Amino acid sequence: MAADVTIRIRDNGPLLIEGPVRLVDAEGHDFVCDPAKPSIAICRCGQSQNAPFCDGSHKACSFQSCVRAPSGG
Ligand code: FES
Repeated sequence: MAADVTIRIRDNGPLLIEGPVRLVDAEGHDFVCDPAKPSIAICRCGQSQNAPFCDGSHKACSFQSCVRAPSGG
């Protein structure tokens, strides 16, 4: 059975979350996500001025991370 949510790890960039999700902060408050968008991008570099969302700052800070799932997964 296919998952309803897919998280794609972009090389040197954010996590792209595709599918119906709630994004909730540590106090239980929801972030507003545009339901018309096919995905949301979550910052992975720690430099976004619009955290937890990616604002493209990973390019300016030359963030590097290329992770791969183990083969056979
Ligand atoms: S991953 Fe894009 S701003 Fe951090």
